[in-house]
Amino acid sequence: MRHTNILIVMLLLLSATQALALPDGHELYIRNCNACHQFQGAGGIGLPLTTKKFRDYSDDYLFKTIRHGRPGRVMPAFMEMSDAQVRAIIAFLRQQTKTRARIYDTSQLNGNPAHGKQLFQTHCVACHGSDGGGRGEGTGVTLSRKRAFLIMPPAISNPGFQAAASDRMIRQVIRVGRPQSGMPAFAEQGLSDQDIDALVAYVRELGKRAAKRPEMSLNEPPSHVTESPYDFETTVTNVKQAVVGANFRAFPDRFLEQGLIDEFSVNPRQIGIRFCNFNKLYDMLKIEPRLGVVLPCRITILERPDGKVLLVTPNLKVVSHWFNNDQLVELWERMEETFTDIIDEVTL
Ligand code: HEC
Ligand code: HEC
Repeated sequence: MRHTNILIVMLLLLSATQALALPDGHELYIRNCNACHQFQGAGGIGLPLTTKKFRDYSDDYLFKTIRHGRPGRVMPAFMEMSDAQVRAIIAFLRQQTKTRARIYDTSQLNGNPAHGKQLFQTHCVACHGSDGGGRGEGTGVTLSRKRAFLIMPPAISNPGFQAAASDRMIRQVIRVGRPQSGMPAFAEQGLSDQDIDALVAYVRELGKRAAKRPEMSLNEPPSHVTESPYDFETTVTNVKQAVVGANFRAFPDRFLEQGLIDEFSVNPRQIGIRFCNFNKLYDMLKIEPRLGVVLPCRITILERPDGKVLLVTPNLKVVSHWFNNDQLVELWERMEETFTDIIDEVTL
């Protein structure tokens, strides 16, 4: 809850200040990046931006990272900034870290992805997840970081990262690791140049796979509205039966406006059916403690003045994406199917 608030405030600040930004790298950094990456790049919700890493970044990587962001992983895409502003931020970070841009040959490497896959499973999965998606458990140093990690490993199959990094830069990251992050220098762990090129090939394959996954349209509305073929009372009874039939426990009904306006004005033809399966709820809270605010188990039934009865269910696919937590997205995709089944049964 606290993090969600901080995030919302930050995002508001971001959009409010962007319009006024001056092409001064320091100031632009403070306004646009500091909230997540912290002063002097110590890292917070974002990754640390330290000298050791900056030695291995090309300016092209930084430019594209700032422009594309990391869709679905909190790091925004700064599309509104002018090229000059983006370059000013990079120049500021170069000055801070006392580093010079590295230039990488941008041609592709041709490692063996099958060999890379084996190595990835042995050396990388524990941190980056089998699909390279960063295991969806948070980002950076603070946001829902698991205590076992110093820094939440980033999503390396992410289209933003894939578009920004050249093969040779990825090779360099794997060779030298990321000091103070837990990611070892694999050249020192006995991996050969051939092994490392094979890993690069496999990281690219993971990126292609991630890009194929159907893109979630976050422009969809956050709830579904279905018309019931029955009258209000029958619909309410059907919903309760279907909910219990799907192994949920139903809570006492609540009128939608209850507690919001005085009790005599409450419209009894607008009702929220709340239900839960405590095991499922518990699993969800383990994955995402910030969930307390938007528990998903609710179907609202409304009778409109013209007598039509509407069923409103949350669009969990959209809502779950607000949390940037892939595990939750998976779990709620299954919940979404359960909801669809319930609504089908009710309206049959
Ligand atoms: C709302 C939070 C947020 C803001 C604001 C933000 N970032 Fe990020 N940034 C992140 C996160 C989170 C990641 C890591 C993504 C992941 O975990 O997959 C990241 C990653 C990066 C990376 C890649 C680091 C690496 O080691 O490859 C760079 C570079 C970066 N950000 C620079 C910036 C700059 C410059 C700004 C301001 C213009 C900025 N970020 C603003 C959250 C943020
Ligand atoms: C112990 C955990 C751990 C292991 C094991 C690990 N990594 Fe990482 N990796 C991280 C962390 C944490 C970061 C980000 C650190 C930072 O930027 O400060 C990272 C960063 C990266 C990056 C740069 C991504 C970006 O957004 O800048 C790549 C590429 C990468 N790892 C690939 C690999 C590969 C390939 C392997 C296996 C050979 C591997 N990692 C093993 C934790 C790990």
